[in-house]
Amino acid sequence: MPRVFSGIQPTGEPHLGNLLGAVRYWVEDQRLGDCFYCVVDLHALTIPGEAADLRKATTTMATLLLAAGLDPDACTLFVQSHVPAHTQLSWLLECTVSFGELRRMTQFKDKSSKGGEEAARAGLFTYPVLMAADILLYDTDRVPVGDDQRQHLELTRDLASRFNTRYGQTFVVPEASIPPAGRGARIMDLQEPLKKMSKSSESPQGTIGLFDDPATVERKVKRAVTDTDSGPDAVRYDPLTKPGVANLLELLAIAEGTGIEEVAGRYTQYGPLKADLAAAVVSLLEPIQASYRAWASDPSAVAEVLAAGAKHADGIARATLARAYDAVGLVAPA
Ligand code: TRP
Repeated sequence: MPRVFSGIQPTGEPHLGNLLGAVRYWVEDQRLGDCFYCVVDLHALTIPGEAADLRKATTTMATLLLAAGLDPDACTLFVQSHVPAHTQLSWLLECTVSFGELRRMTQFKDKSSKGGEEAARAGLFTYPVLMAADILLYDTDRVPVGDDQRQHLELTRDLASRFNTRYGQTFVVPEASIPPAGRGARIMDLQEPLKKMSKSSESPQGTIGLFDDPATVERKVKRAVTDTDSGPDAVRYDPLTKPGVANLLELLAIAEGTGIEEVAGRYTQYGPLKADLAAAVVSLLEPIQASYRAWASDPSAVAEVLAAGAKHADGIARATLARAYDAVGLVAPA
């Protein structure tokens, strides 16, 4: 079975883009591979936040992943900071990557542009290296991620190959597995359909939270930005010229498990499309929210899943780390 690894940050409120672009693929994959899914709490420290919020968000994210259908008997679910090898390997990879390579990462440029590079945390700069460590520790074959992580995966592959060339075969070079266009790789903000739906979005009305109640979902979908086209072919899938409508069609197609063209063919007006989309999203979220309440009522059960996951992950990560330490010439303790 292929080894699969992916991670999700415990920041902000989890939203529909996370579910449709990532988590739902994790659930689908969990019996097809030997899957490791990680709540990457250390990555969350790269941007400002409160300790209490991180603590809460980590548990919430793990609970939500279980509620969304991850089965602890089928996959390994764990928290990044519970496995020390992640930060340990990260150092070896910081000594493999070049400053210039990190400098070219578009996500660093985007995320540091707001407060300025000068104030950005060094951890934001080295973020992709920790991500590479996450992946390489598990001899990962395949990494399901959203489209925005493509560049980080390329860097991970480069670092793995460079390390192998320099020090001898140590790491598996992983493949990115990115959902095809139209299948959730880029779910857009409902208010600003040229921007990705995001946890840190400045338009909360454009982000559907996974904990939103039915009335909130309906209101947000109803107010989603479309365009002023009318007439028989107003409802068509054209992400370039009709990004708002394209996003709604994509969401409905995914929620229903049908094709975009089929969905588009059923509507001539935006109102009915939105009404059906709201209903589909509500029925997608309801069972997840119910399961969340059940898991959340038993926090020790969640903690046990995470402890078992960390134990399993730690065994594998330790062995890979030992291989890498030896390869670069670090002397093992007697
Ligand atoms: N950077 C990823 C994101 O923001 C999260 C992440 C961290 C990740 N480590 C990972 C994803 C390892 C895949 C594999 O979405």
